[in-house]
Amino acid sequence: MTAPCLEVRGLNVRLRSGGRDLHLVRDVSFTVQSGERFGLIGESGCGKTTTLMALMGLLSDRASVAGDVLVDGVDILGDGERSVRAHRWRDIAVVFQSAMNALNPVQTVGRQIAEAAGRMVGESELPVKRRVSDVLELVGLRADVAGRYPHELSGGMRQRVAIAMAVVCQPRVLLADEPTTALDVIVQAQVLTALERACAELGAALVLVSHDMGVIGEVCDRAAVMYAGEVVETAEIDTLYHDPAHPYTQLLIAASPSLAHRDRELVSIAGTPPAAGGAVPGCGFVARCPRHFDPCASSAPHFWPVGSGMQRARCHLYDSASKVRP
Ligand SMILES: Nc1ncnc2c1ncn2[C@@H]1O[C@H](COP(=O)(O)OP(=O)(O)O)[C@@H](O)[C@H]1O
Ligand SMILES: [Mg+2]
Repeated sequence: MTAPCLEVRGLNVRLRSGGRDLHLVRDVSFTVQSGERFGLIGESGCGKTTTLMALMGLLSDRASVAGDVLVDGVDILGDGERSVRAHRWRDIAVVFQSAMNALNPVQTVGRQIAEAAGRMVGESELPVKRRVSDVLELVGLRADVAGRYPHELSGGMRQRVAIAMAVVCQPRVLLADEPTTALDVIVQAQVLTALERACAELGAALVLVSHDMGVIGEVCDRAAVMYAGEVVETAEIDTLYHDPAHPYTQLLIAASPSLAHRDRELVSIAGTPPAAGGAVPGCGFVARCPRHFDPCASSAPHFWPVGSGMQRARCHLYDSASKVRP
């Protein structure tokens, strides 16, 4: 069997901040196959952006990253900064959160894409101009957009330019951090289509980060739900939406306006996620969980298989020794 396009094993991110050691990403593992679209969902502050930045090797010196990140079987973080620099953008690339607002206002779009292409060590045989028009076409924009300035473009077009800049070096893995958050619904669909199309044509794996279950459901084949820096559930999208296992996922689905059934009342999740990086003896969700029972406050749950095992949940409800059944 061929290696997965992206394999993340036991990723941990700790950050030294104000004399404290914050454990922001805890033992995150997932794999994404070539051409697959994988979602990362969770409320704001649960560690999605920190996870993506760790995969890119772009966290500050105050952060320490442990774990393995393999692209096509090659450990890209293995030898530290030098190793990741060789792979960044060429093998793994990211569309940053708010990327469409970070374009240079005084430079044409084509020039900015060409400069992004220049980051690739050893220019390809394709002339840069040709490469710019190819990549614009890949994200559904006309070649003459290259001569325009960011302020001359709509939000959706600017976001597609940001995607073009990320894929100009034809990465194997594309990470996209909340790429549609600031956009209205019709434009959101266009941007998601551009992302899907670019990844399909490149045969790249897509990791799509969003707090919006509707967006993830639109695009992804599988997803991981994050809470307080941990993956608390992974499943195929249909299972996640119709048969969620973790109480947090169940609440996320019930609280999602874009998925709400007309005959069902929208719920809100009481409380807020715990402060970043604090140590908790039991399950991180216990304080907000409507289904917590004896062991939840004192012992951390394992990541148990649910049903056939394709679905997994970090919850004592699925503990093989648990007397309580969902
Ligand atoms: N530089 C930092 N200093 C202190 N805390 C941070 C820093 N960066 C991120 N955090 C904290 O880490 C947690 C995860 O943040 P983030 O990865 O941005 O979450 P998400 O993308 O899911 O909204 C948050 O609680 C955030 O406050
Ligand atoms: Mg974020």
